[in-house]
Formats: sequence, structure tokens, C-alpha cells
Amino acid sequence: MNNIFYPNEEQFQNSPIPNMETYRGLVSDFEKDYEGTWAKFADEKIDWFKPYDKVLDESNAPFYKWFSGGEMNVAHQCVDRHLATKKNKAAIIFEGDNGDQQVLTYRELAYEVNKTANMFKNEFGIQKGDRVVIYMPMIPEAAVSMLACAKIGAIHSIVFGGFSAEALRDRIIDAEAKLVVTSDGAYRKGKPYMLKPVVDKALESGCECVKKVCIVERNGEDITWVAGRDYAYNELIKSQSPKCDAELMESEDPLFLLYTSGSTGKPKGVQHSSAGYILWAQMTMEWVFDVKENDTYWCTADIGWITGHTYIVYGPLAAGATTVMFEGVPTFPDAGRCWKMVEEYQINQFYTAPTAIRLLHKMGEDEPSKYDLSSLRVLGTVGEPIDPPAWKWYYEQVGNSNCSIVDTYWQTETGGHVVSPLPAATPIKPACATFPLPGISAEVIEEDGTPTPVGEKGFMCITKPWPSMIRNIWNDSERFKKSYFGDCKKDGQPVYFSGDGAMIDEEGYITITGRTDDVINVSGHRMGTAEVEAAIKKHDNVASVAVVGKPHEIKGEGIFAYIVLKSVPMEHKDEIADELELMKEINGIIKAEIGAIALCDAMAFVPDLPKTRSGKIMRRILRSIVKGEAITQDTSTLEDPSIVGTIESIVNNDV
Ligand code: WT7
Repeated sequence: MNNIFYPNEEQFQNSPIPNMETYRGLVSDFEKDYEGTWAKFADEKIDWFKPYDKVLDESNAPFYKWFSGGEMNVAHQCVDRHLATKKNKAAIIFEGDNGDQQVLTYRELAYEVNKTANMFKNEFGIQKGDRVVIYMPMIPEAAVSMLACAKIGAIHSIVFGGFSAEALRDRIIDAEAKLVVTSDGAYRKGKPYMLKPVVDKALESGCECVKKVCIVERNGEDITWVAGRDYAYNELIKSQSPKCDAELMESEDPLFLLYTSGSTGKPKGVQHSSAGYILWAQMTMEWVFDVKENDTYWCTADIGWITGHTYIVYGPLAAGATTVMFEGVPTFPDAGRCWKMVEEYQINQFYTAPTAIRLLHKMGEDEPSKYDLSSLRVLGTVGEPIDPPAWKWYYEQVGNSNCSIVDTYWQTETGGHVVSPLPAATPIKPACATFPLPGISAEVIEEDGTPTPVGEKGFMCITKPWPSMIRNIWNDSERFKKSYFGDCKKDGQPVYFSGDGAMIDEEGYITITGRTDDVINVSGHRMGTAEVEAAIKKHDNVASVAVVGKPHEIKGEGIFAYIVLKSVPMEHKDEIADELELMKEINGIIKAEIGAIALCDAMAFVPDLPKTRSGKIMRRILRSIVKGEAITQDTSTLEDPSIVGTIESIVNNDV
């Protein structure tokens, strides 16, 4: 598929960036006057309480500051300021797993946010700057809790509901959270599941910082209540005032932390700002999704990931759009669930991950044709490179060859999209993220800043600071500098390196080629190999382990572990039974330490790992073996070169 797909002009009227000429004009505005152009957008988009003094402060690079001295409030930007013009417009349309529905208008959302903000303040003593951990399912109260934090200046840290008690505890402790907001549980595939017991377990040890737990009722299942610690949201909310003044937030005051995986065992608390973050969330919502006043937009992500933050809650609401929130999974009760919802709500923009597209494609090639999907204009993908067959199905079957597909490249750290097609303007090459968005200096370069030659793999860098960029790693400024500004330079100055490789073609199109570090992308979620390895090492019989990504038909990558045992188990005489038992035990530990998302698809028990004489594990060899590729690396520097052949034969017989 080397064709170029041009936007269908009839689908896009009055788009903010209607053609490539406008795109190039904007890019050149930023080139000519970087700060002035950002200032123009900040003035136009943000409802400032107090104007800022300085657009960009680079004096303490790479701790950049945007719009310093300005005062605003993100909840005001997302909710209150819309009341004058859209009080009765749907802000959030919720659909539960079992099909129950709830609509919150902007007025109702303001009411709920204010009550919740007052509850956090008055009942739980939450003040500006305090951290609140949100461990919740996809229900409106999750979005309300985020906005309530923003309203009073508390910093939220959402922990994805699939993370285990251990993972939740680590994140609570690192952020020193005072309050945890959770629910009894929720519904998934027609059945209730539980969250509160996970919170109870997390708080059993080492979370002295947590004073209160606030529990939303969702599935009504029995939970235990700890007196003096646990409070019922649904009770306390009743007596709260629906009036709450927005806290005056300085532009750089942190809005939230979101933990993500890196190349060490400890997750990083990515810290985002208030003004810069919301500005770009709103701008990209308008540019990349082209949301119009009467549109209904649906992003299927979970609020536990950055996509849910920026493109379910903050971006759509800042843009005054109607955002759909879905509790369930795309395959329940059948593979037509999403298409049924698109038809019912007349969805105009649909945003999901390649892993979901591959799964839905596999489950029902013709399923979309059973529904009226003619409302769709923009189809988005995010999280990992999308493969051409999945792209084609999405374009033809879901989009009826009539929608623009926006393959949006970005990360937790970038806050919003950085490389993406613009639906009305960009001629699209399938499975390609295309061009940097205006204002984003995304470049494919070598470590020294020289442009990578066309067709070769280079580093995906962003060579100028931008408003929605990560501000710091919570409690670890050194790691922030080292992780993002330690690898690449341009004109002698450290520049932001994403951790991804990319390739540029002769027309300037950028294709992301995947991570260059020890991070695996499982179903569009970032998994640190070191984190998984640390969990596996907790098994008594594991001497050493190396984890790599293995291509997977649906998930993109699955997790594959090479394990060296301390002793071969003797209980059974049957090797296979022993290995199956061990795999079960090890996956059990991973589930408890991290969560089901990090389970290994396969393991190979090997006599040793390929190590250099200085003890460094040659992961690249292990990656090649699992992909069945020929080993091209020089193995002569290995302590024991023969181990490569031994491992190869074990893997090839086993897998
Ligand atoms: C990593 C970021 C950004 C929200 C979801 C994941 C990969 C993301 C694309 C894309 C190719 C992509 C990158 C990136 N990625 N979008 N369109 N094409 N790769 O957020 O957990 O911070 O992961 O996802 O490798 O670094 P995240």
C-alpha cells in the first residue's frame, strides 16, 4: 500500500487547518516567531485570571517554564467558562458495560465537580498541592474527581485499575498521597469486578501518608469499611455546596502526575503543568480531531493512561466538546459493540488503539457493515505503530473509505499529540504518523543533532521546548534530565529524546519505528522490561532473567522471558510439567507485583544468558532469537559464545 489518501473535502468544512498551505503557514509562523505564535494561541484559547509575564523561560533548562506569572484554572477552562454558552450541552455521555446510560451536561458537570471539590476540601482536608490518588473504573465520577482536584489545585495521580495492590502502593508512596478515591468496583463483560479490596491491600503497609479513602458506589458489591479512614462518596456528596471558587493556579503549578515505565525497575511520576498542558490538549483536540459544536467524540482509552487524561477528559472538555466515556470492553457482548455505539450516539470522531482494531478485525471482518457508521469523519489510532492490514480494514470497513485516519504519535511525556496527520489537510500514507504538528519541532536526528539520512533509522527528538511537555519526574529531577535530555544534542544543547526510533522519507513523512530502549509496547501500553524482571526475580528459584518483546498478532508485542533457574525442580520427573508449574508461579508473582497486563506469554528456561565479559546481557541477541531472525551481532565478545546456539535450540523446540 504505497498510495496516498487525500482527505474527502466534503467531510471537512471550516476546519481550523483546512489544507497544507495553512499547515505550512502555521509552521512558518512558529519558525519566524516561536514565542509570539505560542502567545497568540495562549491568549486566544485560555481564559486567564491574570495575564502571564513571560511566554517561555529557558533560564533553568531543561526545566522549562511556560506562561509564568499567569493565573488560570484548568477546571474553569474545561467546565465553568462554557456555562455561558453551552450549559445544556452534553459534556459527558456515559455508557456502562451493561448498556446503562447517563448524560452530564456542562451545567450538571459543573455542579458535580463543585460538590466533589468541596467534599475533598471540607471532609478530607485536601489543599492546593496535595496529591490525590484516583484508582477508579471508567465512570463519570472518575472524570469528576479529576476536575474536582483541578478546581482546588490538588495534584491527581491516576493509577490504572488493572494495576495490582503492590503497584498501587508504590505509586501512592512515591507521590505521598493524602487521599485515595476509588469505587467498590465496576462491571466488565457483564460481571462485577472489584477495586476497593485492592486499595485495602495496598494500604496494609507503608502508606501512612494516606489519611482517607473515598469510595464511589458502582456495582454495590460487599466491601469492608475501615472506620475513620473509609468514607462513602454517595453519602458525603449530598450535603456539599454546589458552589466552589476556582483556586488561582499559576501556569506552572502541577496539574497531575502519571506514572509510566522507564528503563529501570521504578516507574516514573511524569509531572505535567496547568496552562501549557491544557493549551495543547485543547489545540490538538481542535486541530487533529476537528471537533465541531454538534459533534460527538469517542475515545476508547482508559483514564488510567495519558490518552484518557488528554483525550477523554481534558482536551474534549477544554474544547467544549461532547465526550463519550465507556466502562466496558469493545468485544462485549460481541464484536459489534463499538459499531453499535457509533450508530446510536452518531459518533463523529472515533479514537482507539491498533490492538483493538486488530482484535475487532479478527473477530468480525464484516461486522462494521451491519451498522450505520455514516456519522464518522475522523478515525484515530494511538499507542503503537499500526500495521498496513489493520489500517486498511479501519479505513475501508469502518470508515467506508470516506474518513481521515489520524495516526497520532505522542507519549505520556508529550502531554498531547506531536506528530500526526490533520484530517482535512494531510495527504495520508497508510500506517504513517506523517508530519510534526505546527509548533512542535519534532525531528529525526543522530545523537549529535545532524539530520538522519532519508530512509535510515534515527532518534525521534523534539528539539525545542513546547508548552505541554513533561516538567519533571516527581521527586527525581536528576532522572528527568538523564532520561530525556541525556542522549541527544542539537547545536551542542541537550534536546528532548522520546526513546523512539523513527524514519523520514524523501517527502518528509515520519514513520515511527518503535522504542530504542528496554521498553516493550504491549497492546499500546508501555511496559518496562526491568519492572517485569524485578518481579520475576522475586521467585525463589530464579537466578537471572531477561525479558524481551515478542511480536504478537493482536497485542503488537507480548512479553517473553528468558529465565535461568537456581536449581532444576526435582519434585516431578516430568520436565514439561515442572516448567508449566514454574510458569504459573512466576506469572502469579507478576500479577501480584504489577498486574495482569504484564503477564508473560511465554518463557524459556535456559542454562545461561548471553553476557559480555563485563557481565552485560546482550538483549539484542535475545530479541533476534525470539523473532526467529538470523543472529547478525558479533558474538565473539560473549563470555561463552556457544550459549547462543544452546538458547536458540531451546527456544525453537519450545515455542
Ligand atoms: C509510546 C508512548 C500516547 C498515548 C498512548 C501511549 C508508542 C504511541 C504511537 C504511534 C507508533 C506510537 C511510542 C511512544 N506510540 N503512539 N502513533 N505510532 N508508536 O502512551 O504509554 O506514554 O507510550 O507509545 O513508542 O513512545 P505511552
